[in-house]
Amino acid sequence: MENKERENLDVDKLITNSRIFDIDGVNMIGNIHNGSIIGLDLKSKIFIEKLISKEFNIDNLITEQKDLINELVKCSFFEDFRPSIDRSYIHITSHCNLDCYGCYSYENKRNLKPDLSFSEIKVILQNLKKSGLKHLVISGGEPFINKDIIEIIKYAKNDLEIELVDCISNGTVELEKYIEASKYLDTLFFSLDTYNENESTLRPKNVFNLVLNKTNQLKDYDVEVNLIFTIHKNNYMCVNNFEELVNSLDVAHNYSILTVKEKDCCNSNKHLMLNKKELAEFENLCKPYSNVDYLDKFKCRISCGAGKSLVSIASNGDVYPCHMYTYENDFLMGNAIKDDIRDILNNSIISKTNVDDIKICNKCEIKYICGGACRYAGYCITGDVLSPDTRYCSQRISGIKNIIKDLTT
Ligand SMILES: C[S@@+](CC[C@H](N)C(=O)[O-])C[C@H]1O[C@@H](n2cnc3c(N)ncnc32)[C@H](O)[C@@H]1O
Ligand code: SF4
Ligand code: SF4
Repeated sequence: MENKERENLDVDKLITNSRIFDIDGVNMIGNIHNGSIIGLDLKSKIFIEKLISKEFNIDNLITEQKDLINELVKCSFFEDFRPSIDRSYIHITSHCNLDCYGCYSYENKRNLKPDLSFSEIKVILQNLKKSGLKHLVISGGEPFINKDIIEIIKYAKNDLEIELVDCISNGTVELEKYIEASKYLDTLFFSLDTYNENESTLRPKNVFNLVLNKTNQLKDYDVEVNLIFTIHKNNYMCVNNFEELVNSLDVAHNYSILTVKEKDCCNSNKHLMLNKKELAEFENLCKPYSNVDYLDKFKCRISCGAGKSLVSIASNGDVYPCHMYTYENDFLMGNAIKDDIRDILNNSIISKTNVDDIKICNKCEIKYICGGACRYAGYCITGDVLSPDTRYCSQRISGIKNIIKDLTT
């Protein structure tokens, strides 16, 4: 980089885009927008600190400093970042043929509310695409109850060319609809909370056989289904059974931890959310089957992304910070039919909160890599959006520290 180009580097942008931190004595600078991290030896750290406090003349650099500046330029530390989203849920209906306990997308009179028209949904999808969307998750209610489901999926994939288009269903709808939809989907998910027909807690028991039959029948049409098991107090110890089931079906699967507000659990006398000890046991049971790749998570972040790079659209077009906040009106950001999504990303306390605002997290060594975990989980338990979600801290801290050890030895 020539002197002339260096003169144009805007140090104020470097300041707002970056965090300088150390983990186990290893110094790093991270870009909070694109996640890139550069390791710093002591001299480089001092140089960057001087640069940031504007005590340095950028024209007078030695070779190592020029190299570091080039690296910072390559990782976009001096660029302007316009807010943009990576991922969004869209709830294309609030109607549902089931009534599962703890459903985050439950709303009063859900089966009486009209769905948005296809042209309104097109406006929302265009808005999302214009805002940078790469991954769309179509959900509901039961999304296949929306009469335009196939057109919506086709429009998202073929017309807007959204990179990843997924859909989550309860697996109870006609086979033909799933076959047609799968032509335009990257992944079709079916949800369950059991591995046999006698055990379901959240869903009616007969749903298990329906989902199993659909999953098997769809194989004849080369449609692969991915199962999502919602995990709660009555099934968290059944990991081996879930794994046996997916092996026998030869399908992929995910686990989703039931997250329900304490007061809602108490009202219905069913306290089904896992406590910290049960979560740790669940994680342990999962260990033989999964390997969390912490190298994948080795990025600079100051939040989980809710309301910043992730949003959720409710069935009337209202925008919330993530799917778990959908229909929580204290967190309403705007409406995706009327508002440009990029303009409303700052309209929520969740978007404005970062890991430095969260008790416990603000003192944590790995805070600029973890980002402070799930912004809904802490709120759900205490009612305070600034509450930490400490469910997986020890695993996360040791995972990240091991990566740093591997990278530096
Ligand atoms: C809201 S449902 C909508 C799609 C479809 N009706 C279904 O059940 O798959 C999407 C997913 O969210 C999960 N889910 C619902 N409420 C939840 C909660 N409180 N915590 C965690 N997952 C939840 C469901 O089990 C399902 O896997
Ligand atoms: S099937 Fe899905 S949307 Fe319907 S109640 Fe169950 S979790 Fe909620
Ligand atoms: S590891 Fe735990 S304490 Fe540290 S930032 Fe993440 S959630 Fe917060």
